Amino acid sequence: MNHFEYRNGEMFAEEVPVGKISREVGTPAYIYSLATLRRHYRVFDQAFGKTPHLVCFSVKSNSNLAVLRAFAKEGSGFDIVSGGELFRALQAGGDARKIVFSGVGKKRDEIEYALKSGILMFNVESEQELMFIDEVGRALGKRAPISLRINPDVDAKTHPYISTGMKKSKFGIEIKRSAELYKQALTLKNLEVIGVDCHIGSQLTSVGPFVDALARVREYLDRVLVGYLRKEGADIRYLDLGGGLGIRYKDEEPPSPEEYAGALVKGLEGLNVTLILEPGRVMVGNAGMLVTEVLYLKEHEEKKFVVVDGGMNDLIRPALYGSYQAVLPVAESKGETIVADVVGPICESGDFFAKDRELPRPKPGDLLAVMSAGAYGFTMASNYNSHPRPPEVLVDGDKYYVVRERESLDDLIRGETIPPALQ
Ligand code: LLP
Repeated sequence: MNHFEYRNGEMFAEEVPVGKISREVGTPAYIYSLATLRRHYRVFDQAFGKTPHLVCFSVKSNSNLAVLRAFAKEGSGFDIVSGGELFRALQAGGDARKIVFSGVGKKRDEIEYALKSGILMFNVESEQELMFIDEVGRALGKRAPISLRINPDVDAKTHPYISTGMKKSKFGIEIKRSAELYKQALTLKNLEVIGVDCHIGSQLTSVGPFVDALARVREYLDRVLVGYLRKEGADIRYLDLGGGLGIRYKDEEPPSPEEYAGALVKGLEGLNVTLILEPGRVMVGNAGMLVTEVLYLKEHEEKKFVVVDGGMNDLIRPALYGSYQAVLPVAESKGETIVADVVGPICESGDFFAKDRELPRPKPGDLLAVMSAGAYGFTMASNYNSHPRPPEVLVDGDKYYVVRERESLDDLIRGETIPPALQ
């Protein structure tokens, strides 16, 4: 559910016409709805009811300060994968004690920063990382709270680039090796073993893979952890099941947060742990759109192209994953429709938002809204072809705020210098 709808043929974000925002801030522009962000958080959080749990919003999906702030105020923690994301989460008012740090390539300065900030736990992804975090902890005179990210070897049945829980993926620790690593962790004095972690992929549209992954982790927990590690003094207090719940882009029917939570909670029965969840897309995906202006309509003999001012530099998902994003006219039109590719200005044939899409015949100056763009939109944007990155706008009722301004031409060359020999 979101707060974007047509009223008398005009698209609104909450109480504000999308056309008005676009005229005032220019295009392309990301527009988010605060009411939708809050609603998504609450529905997700409440789905877990009385089960002890902590929602850690996955910063990589949308890292705008205002968005993070909105979630922090709801009580959310954060799932981070870099020092930069930690900085953002803290700047937004996030509570370090609710932050979990995942990722296969944590560097010394990032580990130090997280340790000094007092985060909840590091989700460790390899043996060498385990040793390294212990070493960094020793140098700082601190104990690092850790969990091991177990790779349960489950097929998430999603796009291969965003499927992370199979044997051949770079993520996590092989399930059969993890008991040995837990034992090793217990001997390292600057580590405190407090959890188990697993994340199998993103945009999952059925509960099956989540249930399978939990069953594998559960079986392992019952056998190895409860039986052995707790006796050895490891206090396994957290089970982090990652993110991954999918959303509707086109006609997918992903489980509702209630179904998802119900299935997970069932699999947890009898385990005395706090559940951690790292949702990203489901929180922000359908809370955002990218508005772009039609520049030209090119009608070739074989094919039509709607050339717009936004491109793969602003929103790369269709180009990178071939993924579907709905493209809707900001002003509804009852006239003739055409079938066309909606393409950007970037000099690559992969630069498209939609292929062979039916839409009302557009004319230059018309606005199109690329829907479901709140997740992995701006965070994956780049300056490719030297386009300044677009602004981000947050709508709250009948007001809107530019929560990140459009980059300027000066921003494009910030930090670049010409050496003396070339002057
Ligand atoms: N936790 C971990 C450890 C992750 O790697 C991810 C996503 C999440 C949580 C959040 O997953 P979500 O709830 O958003 O599915 N750029 C891709 C998605 C990449 C996902 C990477 N990891 C896309 O645009 O589809």
